[in-house]
Amino acid sequence: MPFPTHRLRRLRATPALRELVRETHLHPGQFILPLFVCPGEGVRHEISSMPDNYQLSVDELVKECVEVQSLGIGGVILFGLPESKDEMASGAYDENGIVQRAIRAIRKEVPDLLVVTDVCNCEYTSHGHCGYIKDGDVDNDTTLQWLAKAALSHARAGAHMVAPSDMMDGRVWAIRQALDSSGYEKIPIMAYAAKFASVFYGPFREAAESAPQFGDRRSYQMDPANGREAMQEIELDLQEGADIIMVKPALAYLDLISRARQRFDAPIAAYQVSGEYSMIVAAARNGWLDHDRAMMETLTSITRAGASIILTYFAKPAARLLS
Ligand code: PBG
Repeated sequence: MPFPTHRLRRLRATPALRELVRETHLHPGQFILPLFVCPGEGVRHEISSMPDNYQLSVDELVKECVEVQSLGIGGVILFGLPESKDEMASGAYDENGIVQRAIRAIRKEVPDLLVVTDVCNCEYTSHGHCGYIKDGDVDNDTTLQWLAKAALSHARAGAHMVAPSDMMDGRVWAIRQALDSSGYEKIPIMAYAAKFASVFYGPFREAAESAPQFGDRRSYQMDPANGREAMQEIELDLQEGADIIMVKPALAYLDLISRARQRFDAPIAAYQVSGEYSMIVAAARNGWLDHDRAMMETLTSITRAGASIILTYFAKPAARLLS
């Protein structure tokens, strides 16, 4: 008879007992904060759909990075808003592009902060798609060349790690080859391995000014219905040389984080995306949810599911709460 012998409430009785038996712990070093870098000087433009997140010019970005480091946050991932966009995404792989300049400035002023770069073309193309458009669709293999050039330019500028988010087939392989053949065999790749065509990227597209001008991303990002295919994506990225695999978004895909944790031994990252952030912030501003508790509960759930690294717009407030 389990009851009355067994009473699980015994270990919930006091904060000290709850602390003692807590299974999941968060620490600021597991968070990576996404940052948006834009042209100009002294620019700190709040993104209306993502309160407390900003488009930052390089000088302001450096200040932000000093604060990020002082909070013990694991690192930053950079997204760029170029001066101009074109059909060939030239800004993505320009040695003197916005992200490349930002990397150099951060590495100079905040040398110990981990700098990751998002490798994609959608912020740099005039049409907002993630690659070269041929016959109305993104052409996979031409796009690989752009991605390889972009990743290499980030490594040259001093990035510690590159993170391809485009969902082209073979991009991890293409980037690994480009890095290795130029002497950057030590730069790890964090692959957005299972990235879904999600409504939750909505606020980000305002932040990065990267909404597609026609159609959507369903011919390259994954169908939210497909879990087994997500495991295939992860497996292929690992075979191509990914060092860290990512599931994105996080909250609606906790089952896949958990499945990946059971099946693969590589470090797993999860991206708590813009929409996940903005939903909580909006509800809190309406008085419908407690901001801090919703933030911590979701971050804890993502960690409990099996992600040891979380890309999150909550990195700063969460780190402050944990300190
Ligand atoms: C670039 C990219 C996107 C996000 C990360 N990298 C946008 C997209 O795929 O449309 C989304 C991040 C977020 O919503 O916070 N491809």
